[in-house]
Amino acid sequence: MNVAIVYSSMSGNTEEVAELIQATHVHRGDRVTLYEADRIGHREAQSLATYDLVYFGSYTWADGVLPDEMKDTFRLVLKELNVKLRQAAVFGTGDKMFVHFCRAVDEMAYHLSKYGIPLAGETLKIEQSPRNQPYNVRHWTERLARNAEEGVYVHDHSKDQTTVAQTS
Ligand SMILES: Cc1cc2nc3c(=O)[nH]c(=O)nc-3n(C[C@H](O)[C@H](O)[C@H](O)COP(=O)(O)O)c2cc1C
Repeated sequence: MNVAIVYSSMSGNTEEVAELIQATHVHRGDRVTLYEADRIGHREAQSLATYDLVYFGSYTWADGVLPDEMKDTFRLVLKELNVKLRQAAVFGTGDKMFVHFCRAVDEMAYHLSKYGIPLAGETLKIEQSPRNQPYNVRHWTERLARNAEEGVYVHDHSKDQTTVAQTS
């Protein structure tokens, strides 16, 4: 399978999740391309249509906000270029001390659903770093990879999510 991961990370937590997802796919024998959201120009955006599965990952900012670089990416990919993504997956990191925990994840799922892009499974919300529980990310990724291969689509984006809270 050909996989792309588009992510946005300020202090490295979301990048760690992206790298765990990448490692899980590589272990399965898949080809993976990692993109930082602010590096997505027209050419990269168009190329996302060629992947079997495209992950979008982001931290949440300033009282529940999706960061600008990820907003710009969604605007370019979905609204401006109307790129037909085959299947997508959404993950993010946040902090439970904020009222809108990982709200950026819900916003990304909303944008995808608005443009009719199927999700390969439930969204993944991680509290801070995935370092203590990497297996949660691995299991989620393996499940979504299987769904993507089998063409199992999750249509109701709002209902399903996996939340991973810090244990220490
Ligand atoms: C100013 C500021 C505002 C934040 N607002 C939220 C928020 O509203 N909801 C949330 O879940 N996390 C919030 N966070 C926490 C970050 O999303 C969290 O630390 C995340 O793991 C950072 O990801 P990164 O390391 O990939 O940049 C905020 C952090 C900062 C510094």
